[in-house]
Amino acid sequence: MRFFVTTPFSMEKPVKNQLLRLGIEVDNVTEGRVYFNGEQEQLAAACINIRCGDRIFREIASFDAFTFDELFDNVNKINWADIIGLGGKINVSAKCVRSKLMSPSDVQRITKMAIIKSIQRKIKKDKLPEINEEYPIEVHINKDKVTVALDCCGVSLHKRGYRVKNAVAPLRETFAAGLLEIAGYRAEKPFCDNFCGSGTLAIEAAMIGLNIAPGANRNFACEKFKSFDARVFDSARSKAKSEEKDILLNVTASDISPEMVDMARFHARRAGVENHINFKVCPAGKSIPKGDNGILIINPPYGERLEDRASMITLSKEIGQMLENYSSWNRFVLSGYKNFEKAVGKRAQKTRRFYNGNIECNLYHFFEKK
Ligand SMILES: C[S@@+](CC[C@H](N)C(=O)[O-])C[C@H]1O[C@@H](n2cnc3c(N)ncnc32)[C@H](O)[C@@H]1O
Repeated sequence: MRFFVTTPFSMEKPVKNQLLRLGIEVDNVTEGRVYFNGEQEQLAAACINIRCGDRIFREIASFDAFTFDELFDNVNKINWADIIGLGGKINVSAKCVRSKLMSPSDVQRITKMAIIKSIQRKIKKDKLPEINEEYPIEVHINKDKVTVALDCCGVSLHKRGYRVKNAVAPLRETFAAGLLEIAGYRAEKPFCDNFCGSGTLAIEAAMIGLNIAPGANRNFACEKFKSFDARVFDSARSKAKSEEKDILLNVTASDISPEMVDMARFHARRAGVENHINFKVCPAGKSIPKGDNGILIINPPYGERLEDRASMITLSKEIGQMLENYSSWNRFVLSGYKNFEKAVGKRAQKTRRFYNGNIECNLYHFFEKK
């Protein structure tokens, strides 16, 4: 079977690295997708252990279609009876980009009709009851190239289950894990987030350090699919649990707001890592590093969403001071503030572009001073 992991913008490489570390061979990487071939075992390992992908799909077919008839015929010739069988709920979603077929609702309707007719050809029934498990099917048309894929996750991979309270502008868990992968965080290194908000970066760091699999405590849509064996997931979960480590970490999460620190602590407790994170209420400028050669990742307010322009100037000065305090560390700042480098009075050695939600951001990397 061929699968692909969809990734946040520019996160293909971290996802590829994680698959390789799981012993899963990567077949191809395209914008926003990392492909691999495998069986249910590889799928289960990827679902449970991948930290920074969005979703995992099984690719069912890929073809060119310029008309609705071509779309219907190509979907209809797939043997859907073997994939869905009798009774599955068929839930089709569609995305159309720069193609002749640009109406998602028509693509959805015609795809579903083609699937039903295909099943009816094999299972001779006039009506198919949709009473059992859901099959989320995604049709993606980009420049007339159609991909038909089965969403194996159902719920996006960022839903680990630990984050339940609402903070202002939190990072997605998967995106935070991707930033940690890019920064090269490992259990032996000190880690700090001085603008921790709901705690995402520190919690993800502690989970990486303790080797806690992000998907071990949730379910995946494919566990209920007709042709999948749920026991494969049970053994992947047991394997992940047996590989967790109980070691000392040096992870710090602080924020100026006591309410946010409480929330971060609450989420950390739910994730099972509360005792591995040092929580502090502290303005970022007053924070000092605990240990040498660590990794600092912060996601301060950008101005657009949380603060007004004037307070950004004061905050930028404080961030400049904090970056100085941590000069023996590798420092990463994710910011959508356009004048960030000018405002903090420092030029980053490396800058990478990302999207945090819909907001274009840069990840500014200030190398450790030796
Ligand atoms: C964009 S949010 C961080 C979101 C976080 N990454 C998450 O995933 O929930 C920015 C945080 O910075 C905090 N903050 C604002 N000014 C600060 C300062 N001077 N020192 C420390 N924290 C500050 C806010 O309380 C807020 O929680």
